[in-house]
Amino acid sequence: MFRIEGPVRLAGQVDVRGSKNASLPIMAAGILVGGKTTLKGVPNLSDIAVFGQLLEELGCKVAKTDGGDLCIDSTVIDNPHGDYEIVRKMRAGICILGPLLARCGRAEVSMPGGCAIGDRPVDIHIRGLRELGAEIHLANGYIVADAPHGLVGKNIFLGGPFGSTVLGTANVMMAATLAKGKTVIESAACEPEVSDLANCLNKMGAKITGIGSPRLVIEGVKQLSPVEYQVIPDRIEAGTFMVAAAVTAGQLRITNCRLDDLMAVVDKLRGVGVTVEAADNGCVVSRSGPIIPADITTQPFPGFPTDLQAQFMTLLALADGNSIVVEKIFPDRFMHVAELNRMAANLRKEGPAVIIAGVKRLMAAPVMASDLRASAALILAGLAAYGTTTVQRVYHIDRGYEKIEERLNSAGAKIVRENV
Ligand code: EPZ
Repeated sequence: MFRIEGPVRLAGQVDVRGSKNASLPIMAAGILVGGKTTLKGVPNLSDIAVFGQLLEELGCKVAKTDGGDLCIDSTVIDNPHGDYEIVRKMRAGICILGPLLARCGRAEVSMPGGCAIGDRPVDIHIRGLRELGAEIHLANGYIVADAPHGLVGKNIFLGGPFGSTVLGTANVMMAATLAKGKTVIESAACEPEVSDLANCLNKMGAKITGIGSPRLVIEGVKQLSPVEYQVIPDRIEAGTFMVAAAVTAGQLRITNCRLDDLMAVVDKLRGVGVTVEAADNGCVVSRSGPIIPADITTQPFPGFPTDLQAQFMTLLALADGNSIVVEKIFPDRFMHVAELNRMAANLRKEGPAVIIAGVKRLMAAPVMASDLRASAALILAGLAAYGTTTVQRVYHIDRGYEKIEERLNSAGAKIVRENV
């Protein structure tokens, strides 16, 4: 657990690590090349380690160099099976399905199962791969997929009830790179992590155009080759640090951060009275005046990211008036609400929305993390709250933030990690 003394005013510099959500599908792309891929800038996170185990189960060799590069050798894939014991811990495991189908002509991958942030079906992944000619059925909780004669390119509409799907686009795009003929993915996700994957695939020899737009065109090729690739910085981590500066009325220089990936976030921060100035390789974020209330609705990129919804709720809990947060991607993603109310916030859930009546101060309390971004929101609340906050189940935060307490402490936070 974390023991956090507050309130503090953060001051100093924090460096953003590589993107978790770009690294995971790019690790899966290593399956497609039948050789040694070297990835640079991959963060040291438990999710990355678990994904490495998943690839090793398939037959890959996964190793970290002294320099911190991640090497994935997929020369041998003799067991195209994604085990429940691993996929249940990390839903992103689902994105080995498309590459395995394209590389081996068959795959068996566990259905991901339940998630704290809400219902997360994979029906669109399956629909897209079926469109490419795969025969897919479910057996004993596993997705069993076959494409004995290879995949064939097609025009595919990949939109769903909540708009585009990030990992669904990744899965179908990776499979289409080795399919016969042309594939058009309409309503593709435009997240920077999807573009990073597409850029990596093109470096491997794929032919993908329309990157960053909702219409991806993929000309199938015979084979892909191993590459060395640098993953993009983590925009959600950068956004979390921006909110840390704002919620503590501090000033942080955030490096290795691409403002282009965060325009909706920066726009919202400036709207609530936070100063965000572009700087070399990043930005400087500060706040000196009151927090202005705001309305936030989460949307697919380039809209406001759902992965920063919880952190902004902590900020708006201290605003000078009422705010509303509407969660349009994961309508049940509000596990942090009750915990923030334990810290004297005044939040009321109304369906897929939360009404926030701003309070003058948060009070420290023992709280429980339920998922990755909820735990980030509770840590930010602990930085601003009066007294000693304890956050249990820190393993959630380690899934997506590398040694976050050390980096925040270097900017004036007082966080201690304790074994319980
Ligand atoms: C990715 O999850 C991210 N995970 C999530 O980040 C992020 O919250 C999400 O995209 C949205 O931005 C990774 O990249 C590893 P989706 P993904 O498919 O791809 C529905 C974090 O905190 N849907 O874009 O699983 C789905 O239920 C994590 O780092 C279907 O209905 O999300 C949701 O409502 C949490 N059927 C919406 O679409 C499908 O087949 C968007 O989900 C697929 C999705």
